Amino acid sequence: MQILVTGGCGFIGANFIRRILGRHADWRVVNLDKLTYAGNPDNLSGLPQEQAERYTFVQGDIGDRELTEGLFEEHRIDAVVNFAAESHVDRSIHDPAPFFQTNVMGTQALLEAARAKKIERFVHISTDEVYGTLGPDGKFVETTPLAPNSPYSASKASSDLLCRAYFETYGFPVLVTRCSNNYGPYQFPEKLIPLMYLKASADEPLPVYGDGLNVRDWIYVDDHCKGVELALLKGKEGQVYNFGSDGEKNNLEVVTTILDILGKPHSLISFVKDRPGHDRRYAMGYGFAQRELGFEPEYEFASGIRATLDWYRANDEWMARVQDGSYRTFMDSWYKER
Ligand code: NAD
Ligand code: TYD
Repeated sequence: MQILVTGGCGFIGANFIRRILGRHADWRVVNLDKLTYAGNPDNLSGLPQEQAERYTFVQGDIGDRELTEGLFEEHRIDAVVNFAAESHVDRSIHDPAPFFQTNVMGTQALLEAARAKKIERFVHISTDEVYGTLGPDGKFVETTPLAPNSPYSASKASSDLLCRAYFETYGFPVLVTRCSNNYGPYQFPEKLIPLMYLKASADEPLPVYGDGLNVRDWIYVDDHCKGVELALLKGKEGQVYNFGSDGEKNNLEVVTTILDILGKPHSLISFVKDRPGHDRRYAMGYGFAQRELGFEPEYEFASGIRATLDWYRANDEWMARVQDGSYRTFMDSWYKER
């Protein structure tokens, strides 16, 4: 199989490419990535020679139809896995425009190019955030109404609906996966877990929004990648699949776990002004993916977080390199206001 993976230089896309090159000796992967601030070709460096020979990197935008149609033909692409997106909620609050440009317009252009070239399978990667927020009980299921609250989640919900429309209107073979919060190697340090690792390692205050009791359902990134692989191989066209890990934790639990593993004092926690529109609780019901795809997450949070922090400790240079000028500019202005 020849696959076009978009956004493969980001956190989840890179983990996905590593997984499938390692598990399918006859698959070839073309990675189309614009290399925004979050895209890092280093995330795929050091592939074993035999895997590197089956991997091609192309820098470019999913919104560029001439480019994508050319890639579909040149590489005889069978399937697309669309990870490319602007992905950080805080940035979407600061400036929503790039989120709609890439996540909505870009996805539409990619769907159209894939339809024109009769691509046989298109897996669109989405998030639990499209469902909005939960009260103290219950979980999101695939039929939960979409109720996004941030510009990021509104842009993702819009692209999910485009996928639905392409299936219903054109019979285009697209399916959507929605996953809860990922953590693991190669995550860009603007997201909670790597950011808190960085701050704690430097003995700097850890900025916890509001009362710190917002809940996320944490899943180890390779478990998410396994779900996407199953959806690619076995998913039904037009279907939505939720992936989660029964990993509900509030932010204070996550942050204190990180401090404890690193041997740092809880007094580093600093409560700051809350994120506007901050969703209170996410939890994913993934029984449908269990039944239909055989999806089972393997990692418990307790072991996954240790493996993740070990990876960051062993990859200090990677961490230093991703904190370039544009990283610092956004982080400085965002946290100055909090
Ligand atoms: P990320 O920000 O780490 O990576 C995004 C990648 O997309 C980067 O490499 C970036 O350069 C690339 N990109 C951005 N705009 C592009 C464009 N116009 N054309 C081509 N490439 C472009 O994001 P991530 O955390 O790896 O998330 C990947 C996908 O998974 C996103 O669609 C996101 O919505 C979804 N998702 C993320 C999570 C999570 O916890 N991180 C959970 C569920 C779903
Ligand atoms: P984040 O990693 O940005 O993921 P998402 O907003 O997509 O769930 O944030 C996870 C949780 O951590 C969320 O409730 C917001 C909170 N958070 C903080 O308390 N402080 C921070 O500096 C960041 C980045 C997030």
